[in-house]
Amino acid sequence: MAWRPKAFSDSANGAWFLLFLFFLAAITISQNAQSQKSESSGNPSNSTASSADKEPPPRHAYAGDAACRSCHEQEARTYSGTAHHLTSRMPSEHSILGKFSPGANILRTSNPYLHFEMTATKDGYFESAVEQPSSSETLSHTERIDVVIGSGRKGQTYLFWKGDKLFELPVSYWTELDAWINSPGYPDGSPRFDKPVVPRCLECHSGYFEAVPQTLNRFNRASLVSGITCERCHGPGREHVVLYSSKTPPRAKAEAIVNPATLSRDRQMDVCASCHSGAGKPLAPALSFVPGKVLDDYLYVPYVPDASVDVHGNQVQLLTSSRCFRNSTMTCITCHNVHKPQRDAAAFSEHCLTCHKAEDCGKFPTLGVKIVSNCVDCHMPLQESEVLVSDTNGRKLKPRVRNHRIAIYPDAALP
Ligand code: HEC
Ligand code: HEC
Ligand code: HEC
Ligand code: HEC
Ligand code: HEC
Ligand code: HEC
Ligand code: HEC
Repeated sequence: MAWRPKAFSDSANGAWFLLFLFFLAAITISQNAQSQKSESSGNPSNSTASSADKEPPPRHAYAGDAACRSCHEQEARTYSGTAHHLTSRMPSEHSILGKFSPGANILRTSNPYLHFEMTATKDGYFESAVEQPSSSETLSHTERIDVVIGSGRKGQTYLFWKGDKLFELPVSYWTELDAWINSPGYPDGSPRFDKPVVPRCLECHSGYFEAVPQTLNRFNRASLVSGITCERCHGPGREHVVLYSSKTPPRAKAEAIVNPATLSRDRQMDVCASCHSGAGKPLAPALSFVPGKVLDDYLYVPYVPDASVDVHGNQVQLLTSSRCFRNSTMTCITCHNVHKPQRDAAAFSEHCLTCHKAEDCGKFPTLGVKIVSNCVDCHMPLQESEVLVSDTNGRKLKPRVRNHRIAIYPDAALP
């Protein structure tokens, strides 16, 4: 993908994007590549993957984080605290942020006869829908929390297995309120446990898994590796590990591993875009794309005019529509070190000041040096997502996400 705004406009695109994340109920693998335009400025010799490449690499091509940790202690130590590493976990008292204590474990709904109850027992953690249509009658349905999705930066959603099928649970956790909420995408006040979890969901939120081909939500349960692993950004690393564990390791440049910093700008953006440009439309089985490849061959990501792109999950489209991006060689790693937690918004102003001077800002004459550590408050404001919405007990809850379109927002102000 060439991460420059494309001149063509593609009619069906806007609708695609509104189907983002939690709402994405059924992305089926589609061979429908006809809508995909190859980018004239891309490298044509690079832009067609052979059919052999449209298979995920075999499991044994991967070495796993523990192997990487043994030689790259510095990256691994801080990586364990990042949202990427923590984005999927097995259930435990530490990984589940919602509370199970009496009172705090109840979620009321807009349906007066229905509430949800979350319980922790020696057998695990559970969500139950409890319906009391009359004083003498109680119906309930219970499922176990089997997988925790979300580092908790904004919230968490929980998944459960039914055989080898994976589903989303109806109750999620919302960090801002420190409370249970109705899972986005499930209607308020209805005791449903039927939202399938498609491979694309795990592709963005986990390290590795084997999906049963041509099914909506069947997986090899034992294959799931939780947390985004080093190799999701560095490519399968078994060969690299074997080479450097040998008695005569290569001495020249690093071999058999991808360092995104040394990829071309487009290929480097593709690594992040595989998860930060929306659900898109898969053109090959999940996990077939590996760093260094051309994302366009694996995922159709439409270019959408600025205004219709939601702040949630579309960092790539937003950033690439900024003048900063178009008129420089900026990429995601100009500002982010993905081996460390990225939570201190003020610290990012330093990156702006590598290309700009505070004096360039129209607010400098009136506000002076006060603006120096607040560039992002005004030029990358936090905004509510309009697609990631939870209907909880009659209220609409929307998370605030950092808008990655760096621009002039006339209403933005210092906090
Ligand atoms: C047995 C030790 C060893 C293991 C295990 C290992 N590496 Fe390396 N790795 C090295 C060495 C040594 C280099 C440095 C080569 C050089 O001098 O540039 C390197 C280089 C790298 C580089 C490139 C750095 C650059 O400057 O281009 C990356 C990225 C990397 N390793 C990632 C990984 C990942 C991911 C894993 C786990 C799958 C891993 N390594 C496992 C020894 C190891
Ligand atoms: C295209 C990749 C992609 C897909 C598909 C996707 N997500 Fe996400 N998700 C993200 C990204 C990126 C973020 C965080 C950044 C943001 O909010 O823009 C996120 C955030 C979240 C969060 C909040 C995490 C936190 O710590 O605050 C939850 C919970 C979540 N996703 C659950 C899911 C579930 C469940 C599915 C599938 C049913 C899913 N997502 C599908 C990429 C994806
Ligand atoms: C979200 C993507 C992502 C993940 C996950 C990730 N890395 Fe990286 N890694 C990068 C990028 C981008 C670079 C190049 C830019 C940089 O050096 O920060 C890089 C660079 C490196 C380098 C070269 C550092 C140097 O000084 O040249 C090593 C070694 C490395 N990563 C190891 C790891 C290990 C080990 C893990 C897992 C514990 C890991 N990475 C997880 C994206 C990632
Ligand atoms: C395999 C999918 C995947 C890839 C590849 C990926 N990300 Fe992410 N990223 C996510 C998800 C999912 C989250 C949200 C995690 C959460 O909070 O649960 C996230 C969160 C983040 C965050 C917030 C981190 C924090 O500590 O709060 C940053 C920044 C980020 N990604 C940057 C990048 C960059 C830069 C790249 C490319 C070098 C990249 N990501 C590649 C899936 C991915
Ligand atoms: C890699 C260099 C680079 C970085 C880093 C960078 N910018 Fe820019 N920015 C530019 C360039 C180049 C332009 C376009 C200047 C022009 O066209 O005259 C620009 C334009 C802008 C504009 C004008 C936007 C418009 O739509 O009119 C603003 C505001 C801005 N930058 C703010 C920021 C802020 C805030 C940051 C940090 C979050 C930042 N920039 C980081 C290079 C950069
Ligand atoms: C000009 C600097 C800059 C660039 C370039 C940049 N980011 Fe960010 N990013 C930020 C800032 C500032 C934050 C907010 C940190 C915070 O509030 O804790 C952020 C936060 C994030 C988050 C968390 C969003 C949220 O609201 O929870 C994600 C995900 C992310 N960035 C991904 C990316 C990706 C992917 C790219 C490349 C397309 C990218 N960023 C490029 C500055 C940048
Ligand atoms: C209080 C909000 C606020 C803060 C903080 C702020 N800006 Fe601005 N900035 C604006 C507004 C509003 C404009 C455009 C209107 C104007 O020129 O008065 C602007 C204009 C700009 C421009 C475009 C100038 C042009 O003529 O194209 C750049 C570049 C810029 N700011 C960079 C920065 C940088 C770098 C920082 C941090 C050091 C920063 N701004 C902090 C509000 C802010």
